[in-house]
Amino acid sequence: MIVQPASGPLAGSIRTSPDKSITHRLLFFAAMNRGRTIIGNPSLAADCASTLGLLRSAGYGFQSEPGRIICDGSPSPRDAWSGRFDCGNSGTTARLAAGFLTGERGRFLLDGDESLRRRPMERVAGPLRLMGAEIATAGGSLPLTIDAAPPLAGPLPGTMLDVSSAQVHAALVIAAIRSALPVAIRRVAPMRDHTLRIARLFGLEIGTEEVAGCAVDTLESFEMRRDIDFTIPGDLSSAAFIIAAAMLVPGSRVRIERVGLNPTRIALLGCLQEMGGNLSWTVDDAAREPVGSIDVSYSPGLAGIALGGDDASVDIPGMIDELPLLALIGSQAEGITTVRGAAELRLKESDRISATAAMLRGLGIRIDELADGFSVAGPQRVAGGVADHHGDHRLCMTAAVAALVADGPVTIPSPGVAAVSYPGFWDDLRAIGAPAGEETA
Ligand code: S3P
Repeated sequence: MIVQPASGPLAGSIRTSPDKSITHRLLFFAAMNRGRTIIGNPSLAADCASTLGLLRSAGYGFQSEPGRIICDGSPSPRDAWSGRFDCGNSGTTARLAAGFLTGERGRFLLDGDESLRRRPMERVAGPLRLMGAEIATAGGSLPLTIDAAPPLAGPLPGTMLDVSSAQVHAALVIAAIRSALPVAIRRVAPMRDHTLRIARLFGLEIGTEEVAGCAVDTLESFEMRRDIDFTIPGDLSSAAFIIAAAMLVPGSRVRIERVGLNPTRIALLGCLQEMGGNLSWTVDDAAREPVGSIDVSYSPGLAGIALGGDDASVDIPGMIDELPLLALIGSQAEGITTVRGAAELRLKESDRISATAAMLRGLGIRIDELADGFSVAGPQRVAGGVADHHGDHRLCMTAAVAALVADGPVTIPSPGVAAVSYPGFWDDLRAIGAPAGEETA
C-alpha cells in the first residue's frame, strides 16, 4: 500500500470498527450463557475471528448473520475430549481461552503465531494454577497445555488472586464462573472494566470493594440464563488513528459516531486535549457500555506532554494500545513528549517501544527509546520511504497516519495486518479523503 501525503483536508462522519475487547468477552459469555445471546455489530477483526473459531471448534453453536452473531444456550461440558486451538495473533483469545477451557473436561493445547508465541503466558497460568487448574506453559509462553477436570478446587481460603492485566482478570472471572468458585480477585493496577460490565449484564453478582488502595472483585453468583441483545460500540483504539489523522492534516474536520467511550479506555482523549488538540466528545448512552460521538478537527500548535513516571495520576493502561500512535503525534508537537511507566508495551504484538522507535526512525523521525517508554522532540518533518511495522497492526496504522503528513509517499508492506484489529481501516481512511490507495504486488 502506498499512502501519499494528504493534499487537502480530511472530512466526514464515520463509524469505526466495532470494539475488539468487548466482542471477545461477549463471545465467551455467550458460550457460557444458557439463554440466547444476540451480539449486534460484532467485530470481524482477525483477533475476534480467532475467538469465534476456537469456541466453535470447542462445540459451541454460533450463527453468523449480517451484522450480528447469535448463540443459543451453552451445551454442558462434553465428556473427556481433546482439542488443539490456534489463537492466531490474539493475546486476548489465548488468555481468555485459558480460563474458559478449565471448565471443559479433557486435554487442550493453545498455540498461536510467531508473535503470540513470544508473549508471556505465566501471568495467566500462575493464578489459574492457584485456582486448581493443571496448566503448563512452554518456558512461560505458548504452547500452553491444560489438563482440565472441572470444577476447579479454588485457592486456599483468604488467598488473593492478584492481577495487573485486563486479559488475566477476564480469564479468572471466566474460570471462576465455570467452576462456580467464589474467588476474590485483586486488581493491583488500573485496567479496562468490560468484563465486570458484561458479567453484570448477564445477571451475575460481583461485589467490588476498595482494600488498601486496590479494587477487589468477589464473584457471588454464577448462573447465566438471560436472553441478551447487545450492540457493540465502535472501538476507540481504532478511532484513535482517525482522530490523529484529523488532528494532523490541515483543515480537517471529522466526526466519529457510535464509538465506545468507557472511562477506562479514554485516557488518550484527555491527553490529546491537554496537548491542545481540538476535540470534544459526548456520551449519548451510558447504560451498559458508554457510547457516543467524537468531533475532532485540525489542531495546529500542539504542545508536547510528559506522561507517567512520577506522575501516578496518568492512566497509562487506559491508553496502552494508543501509545505508538502518541509517539507519532508527539513528533508533530512543539517541545518534548515523554512516556514513562509503559514497560508493558514491550510485551505486546511486537516490542512496541523498540519497534515504534525503529519504524519512526525509518521515516526520518528522531526518537529516544527508554526502558519503559520513549521520548520524542517536535515538531519534526516526516520523510517518505518504507515503513517497517514489524507485522504489528497498530504500528501499520500508525505508519499510515505518518504518511499523511510526510514529505513524500510512504510504502506500507503487508497492509492487510491492519485487519487484526480494524478490518475497515483502509476504506475508512479513504472515506474521509486520505490518499491511501495504490496497492502494490
Ligand atoms: C486487552 C487488554 C490490554 C490491551 C489489549 C486488549 C483486553 O492488555 O493491551 O489489546 O481486551 O483485555 P492487558 O491484558 O495487558 O491489560
